[in-house]
Amino acid sequence: MWSIPCSSSSPNSNPQRSDGTTWVATVNLTLRAPTSADIPDLVALDQACFQGWWSAASYAQELGRPSSLFLGLWTNHLLALGCLWLILEEAHVILLAVHPEQRRQGLGKLLLGVLLHQATTRGATRATLEVRASNTAALTLYTQYGFQTAGRRRDYYQNPREDGLVLWRNGLDSPVYQQALVQSIGQAQTHLAHLGYSLEWDQAR
Ligand SMILES: CC(C)(COP(=O)(O)OP(=O)(O)OC[C@H]1O[C@@H](n2cnc3c(N)ncnc32)[C@H](O)[C@@H]1OP(=O)(O)O)[C@@H](O)C(=O)NCCC(=O)NCCS
Repeated sequence: MWSIPCSSSSPNSNPQRSDGTTWVATVNLTLRAPTSADIPDLVALDQACFQGWWSAASYAQELGRPSSLFLGLWTNHLLALGCLWLILEEAHVILLAVHPEQRRQGLGKLLLGVLLHQATTRGATRATLEVRASNTAALTLYTQYGFQTAGRRRDYYQNPREDGLVLWRNGLDSPVYQQALVQSIGQAQTHLAHLGYSLEWDQAR
């Protein structure tokens, strides 16, 4: 096995050895909280995923919010970000975004799982979020984590105008759900390892 430290691209185009077996290139993937130095990366990813939903000032404010759980996944670039707010026993998923060129690799599944798990360790017992009614990718992912549609907000989103669905997941603190979270995180991690990502969690920041 050989290693490409901090390559910016997906690691899944692995060359073949002369005996026909495949070299697995490993790319360091770091899970950590963003800092103020990361604001340009956060804004760039926001632009790529949401066409500029939050400004640099919004991200700066978010980094200082005590109730915010904010994590990103980095190679030498920011690949994904996720953020939730802890309001009493509720976890409100505010942001979840994976760079368009890095989707369908398990990054969103990993990030959402870790965020929900972290939320439960801080006392959250239920989680909620809003999502565009047509956002099949996000809806499928949220359904995998047991979210169910509880309501519809007419014309909640603009550009393009669209209804928002309100999703909830109760019982985050149940042992069964905790186990399911750990399992989903493990599955995502295994999938990413097969793609050549070596995950480390930098909890120092
Ligand atoms: C939604 C989003 C975060 C998913 O991230 P991702 O890293 O591509 O998702 P994953 O690879 O972890 O996928 C996990 C599961 O979600 C579902 N899923 C993801 N993308 C999907 C798609 N385009 N269509 C259908 N299901 C999809 C699948 O069930 C998938 O599991 P599988 O690949 O084993 O089938 C990503 O598409 C994104 O950033 N979208 C734009 C921003 C956004 O809409 N955020 C949510 C706002 S509420």
